Amino acid sequence: MSIVKSIFFLILMLIDKPVTLSINITSTLIGLPEDARLNFTQLAYKYGLVVREYEVITEDGYILKLFNIQGNKKRPVLLAHGIFGTADIYLLRGKTSLGYILAKQGYDVWALNVRGSRYSRKHLTLDPDKDKAFWNFSFHEHGYYDLPANIDFILQSTGQNQLSIIGISEGTTITFVLASMRPEYNEKINVFLALAPVVYLQNLEPPSSILLQFSAEINDLLTVLGFEELFGYNSIFKAIYNIICGQRIGYDLCLKIGFFPVTGADADELEPEFYYTTIGQFPDGTSRKNLAHYTQVGRRRIFAQYDYGRRMNLDMYQSAAPPEYSLNRVTIKVVLICGKNDKLSTLKDVQILKDRLPNVIGFRVMESNTFNHLDHVWGRNVHKVSYPFIIKTLRKFN
Ligand SMILES: *[C@@H]1O[C@H](CO)[C@@H](O)[C@H](O)[C@H]1NC(C)=O
Ligand SMILES: *[C@@H]1O[C@H](CO)[C@@H](O)[C@H](O)[C@H]1NC(C)=O
Ligand SMILES: *[C@@H]1O[C@H](CO)[C@@H](O)[C@H](O)[C@H]1NC(C)=O
Repeated sequence: MSIVKSIFFLILMLIDKPVTLSINITSTLIGLPEDARLNFTQLAYKYGLVVREYEVITEDGYILKLFNIQGNKKRPVLLAHGIFGTADIYLLRGKTSLGYILAKQGYDVWALNVRGSRYSRKHLTLDPDKDKAFWNFSFHEHGYYDLPANIDFILQSTGQNQLSIIGISEGTTITFVLASMRPEYNEKINVFLALAPVVYLQNLEPPSSILLQFSAEINDLLTVLGFEELFGYNSIFKAIYNIICGQRIGYDLCLKIGFFPVTGADADELEPEFYYTTIGQFPDGTSRKNLAHYTQVGRRRIFAQYDYGRRMNLDMYQSAAPPEYSLNRVTIKVVLICGKNDKLSTLKDVQILKDRLPNVIGFRVMESNTFNHLDHVWGRNVHKVSYPFIIKTLRKFN
């Protein structure tokens, strides 16, 4: 069964060829709940919030969209989304979303969008539809360039010295990358709440572990075929995903058979009505290289920079193997929040991370036995079981 599923995923990925031929994605979203068709700003507006949109330019020329729901300028909180996501994940649950609740609590809420995602598919000189170089990034660049550019922008516009970060999944990876590569940023973050942290991927189960075994071959194949962008918002794949997964069978086929084996299953918390709302916004685009980097972390059992192969590593890093990210340089106060049924951020892997971080001030395992990777932002009851703890923790620093 896992093999069949893997092949199914592979075929879907192959269809996702970067296209210059632009597809009108809107028409594939007809019939879905209204929120599936709204962007971040529209979602916020619908729920009574006002968003300011900013463009942040990174040192290497990427133009990133940054959203701000204004609150008390002295209490900035930056939300960092996960892989295949955008800032939208923090508003999709409407008035029980983390973004909404933080805004109502008076926080100055900022939500970033990493390079390559729907809102940040832009560069000063590179064209994402034509230039392969645009897609030459992984979570390393998100952490090394995207995150600090956003942090500096926020601190400058609020006049503060520090902000708080809440990240989920890849949003945690990139924060650990930044704090280890550019330790001066540790001082700019007063607390970091890491939801479903992803740093080690040594305890994956099938089907993820099987995909991991074949990941080098899959990556080679995608490279040969020229697929540099995966799951782009305006791609053919996305259109097909919207059409198939938006059908009545979509909940069982796409969520239960497709996502749940990878994220952990929790149908009670992710009910059909809500699942259909996520279709427009998730999955969103990232690079092949990003996925390849994550699979290297899993296969090599080490949290290290991108492995280009021995010869190029020598040029790039002056060592045959890519350098490990030094977690002992991550001196930010970290609160780890994880779920027992999270198949990507497994308790065992989070434990390894916890043991290697020098400044973990909180560690919370959600009580529910079914709490999975997605529940932190999308669970039906997460605003009751998790957000009060998050707000209480933030209060100590803001
Ligand atoms: C896309 O399709 C929608 C609905 O079919 C239509 O309203 C909209 O004008 C189209 N947009 C473009 C850019 O063609
Ligand atoms: C959101 O959609 C509205 C209406 O189409 C558009 O004017 C606005 O620019 C969009 N914002 C973003 C960030 O895409
Ligand atoms: C990708 O970026 C790396 C590091 O910046 C560079 O050495 C490499 O040549 C780039 N590869 C491509 C295909 O642009």
